[in-house]
Amino acid sequence: MKYYAPKGLSDVLPEEMPYWHAVGDEVRSVMSSYNYSEIRTPMMEKTEVFARGVGENTDVVSKEMYTFDDKGGRSMTLRPENTASAVRAYLEHKFYGKEELSKWYYLGPMFRYEAPQKGRSRQFHQYGAEAIGSNDPALDAELITLAIDILTSLGLEDVGLKLNSIGCPSDREDYVDDLVDYLEPRKEGLCSDCQARLTTNPLRILDCKNERCQEIVKDGPVITDYLCTDCQEHFDGVKSYLNELEIDYVLEPNLVRGLDYYTKTVFEVFSEDLGAQDALVGGGRYDELVELFGGDPTPAVGFAGGIERLVLLLEELERVSGSEGGLDLYIATIDDESKQAAMKLGRELRKVGLATEMDYLEKSLQGQLGYADRYDARYTAILGPREIENDELTLRDMESGDQVKVSLDNYVEEIVEKLIG
Ligand code: HAM
Repeated sequence: MKYYAPKGLSDVLPEEMPYWHAVGDEVRSVMSSYNYSEIRTPMMEKTEVFARGVGENTDVVSKEMYTFDDKGGRSMTLRPENTASAVRAYLEHKFYGKEELSKWYYLGPMFRYEAPQKGRSRQFHQYGAEAIGSNDPALDAELITLAIDILTSLGLEDVGLKLNSIGCPSDREDYVDDLVDYLEPRKEGLCSDCQARLTTNPLRILDCKNERCQEIVKDGPVITDYLCTDCQEHFDGVKSYLNELEIDYVLEPNLVRGLDYYTKTVFEVFSEDLGAQDALVGGGRYDELVELFGGDPTPAVGFAGGIERLVLLLEELERVSGSEGGLDLYIATIDDESKQAAMKLGRELRKVGLATEMDYLEKSLQGQLGYADRYDARYTAILGPREIENDELTLRDMESGDQVKVSLDNYVEEIVEKLIG
């Protein structure tokens, strides 16, 4: 073996595909039912889109981006997430002049140079939604509901929601001052990363996974005590809509999320089906990002979910059938002449929507019937010199073993009749 996929990048093999298809189908269908339209942005952007949008001091930008100079000497970055690109596209195509509220969704690969582990890879896939143009707390509640509905439509039963508000930048400034004042004398107890964060990004200390850091932060000041009237009312609005929708949530005052653009609402959705799990979905409001990119102040809110994590969970819970489709018809052939007829027959049947396969390995009739079984074919059509001579084929029901003759003059109608009824 000479070549392997790069570390942290994996193949999605055909046997895993039914899960991926199920996720894609549900995402598209639930997103459409909420009136979100698909957008596809390029897999890479100029580096500053993410550096500015996501924030220079975030882990994503400072440690995890795949950045390189292209042949023209421009710094390019493989997208680590899609929100910054969506906002870039929103401004580039002047959506602010076309519609008051843009509701978009996306599905696709993202890239982060992280330590690979279960549910965390360097190329991973996200589905996500962004609603740009309204600060209505009902829209935050809609996005949260949408994120949950996608998961429940896939069969997840216990979906949990962590909710917080991190206020506006001025709330946060007051809060961060007090947080730093509280942490400074306790600095020695923090992990080395958090000691550095105390100057670069103190908010991130709140969701450090290190137990000692958590212990220290637990008794510190709480962001929701610092919300201004506007942010408080907004947060109350979001909670009241969620209550109305009977969506349970846990208030997590230390949930800040790892990207700098967030304002007000932040949330994470996780599964309780398999106990403690990383977030399946993360999101929140980003009311200042459009302005940061040079647009007029335009409030926005969104989320994204990781498909690998979701597929792992669905596989473990066996929530989606592991096989899909199956073959309608296997055409078994005996000699060159019948093979030529089979090529034509297969093509015509595929045109009317039947999944059809034939032999390319010079197998015996017995061997071909074995393949028909392996492909889970409902029927096998047997075509040999005798059938061609009589202008007919033998149609065998693979479950019952019953065989009937079908005339080659109107086989399409007869086969369709048998298979589709
Ligand atoms: P995020 O929390 O960085 O948010 O990522 C969202 C989700 O993507 C995570 O909850 C996780 O399921 C998945 N994910 C992230 N990194 C990896 C990885 N290395 N391997 C596998 N899965 C991963 C965002 O990306 C924001 N853009 C979400 C957003 C949209 N906020 C507002 N709008």
